[in-house]
Amino acid sequence: MENNLMKKIDEARAYLADKLGYTPEIGLILGSGLGELGEEVEDKVYISYGDIPNFPVSTVEGHKGRFVFGTLMGRKVAVMQGRFHFYEGYKMQEVVFPIWVMKALGIGKLIVTNAAGGINTGFVPGDLMIIKDHINYTNLNPLIGPNNEAFGPRFPDMSAAYSREMIQIIKDSAAALELKLQEGVYVLLTGPSYETPAEIKALRILGADAVGMSTVPEVVTANHCGMAVAGISCITNMAAGILDQPLDHNEVMETAEKVKVRFSSLIKTVVGRL
Ligand code: HPA
Repeated sequence: MENNLMKKIDEARAYLADKLGYTPEIGLILGSGLGELGEEVEDKVYISYGDIPNFPVSTVEGHKGRFVFGTLMGRKVAVMQGRFHFYEGYKMQEVVFPIWVMKALGIGKLIVTNAAGGINTGFVPGDLMIIKDHINYTNLNPLIGPNNEAFGPRFPDMSAAYSREMIQIIKDSAAALELKLQEGVYVLLTGPSYETPAEIKALRILGADAVGMSTVPEVVTANHCGMAVAGISCITNMAAGILDQPLDHNEVMETAEKVKVRFSSLIKTVVGRL
């Protein structure tokens, strides 16, 4: 990694550390329509991405584009309301810039969430799915370029990209709350067009249960720099061709809205148990 990038990360870290005066321990990235959990944080400090040195700025509807720092279930958290997507035109290194900044701030655990299309026909819209593994169906990787040895190795292991301990905590939390929880493989495509029915059929044969346009870059980067990572998808719609109806972003946002109470209670319980 170029020194220039390290300098940019450190400038962002210094700005946030100065505003906070404490070290957050858990990072949370809230996906499309799932941002409201951020409002449940106590002693909130909002920091817009646009105010942080070197941060890209979020543009998608339903993504607020700010950090909420504070306390959730007694734990110091950094909640991202909105994230950066490759389809918005950001470079991969911009998409994952917040991960490097969270790592530099001292965060060791990360929960990543997203809205996703259900490929597994056993799923229904509104289901929550633990991501047990992913398929990167793009030829993009945020770690392409000079390696930052201070963060991690040139060829990072991805054989347990989703922490087994965190997966167990999520399962135990869902059981305690009597919430139905699915488990599956998330596949990344760049978007922004939704998939065709033929693509969904092919992705199912490849072993994918849910499809989306985010998360994988952040998970790869967080693993590289030694963070423990968990991922949860909100299945907002059935993927293309499964139902005889077109896909649209409003359906994604409407389902996320319906799920948000269940989603928030699950994430809060998990955070309290980490
Ligand atoms: N495909 C890709 N991304 C998505 C979908 C989908 O069906 N739903 C929510 N994000």
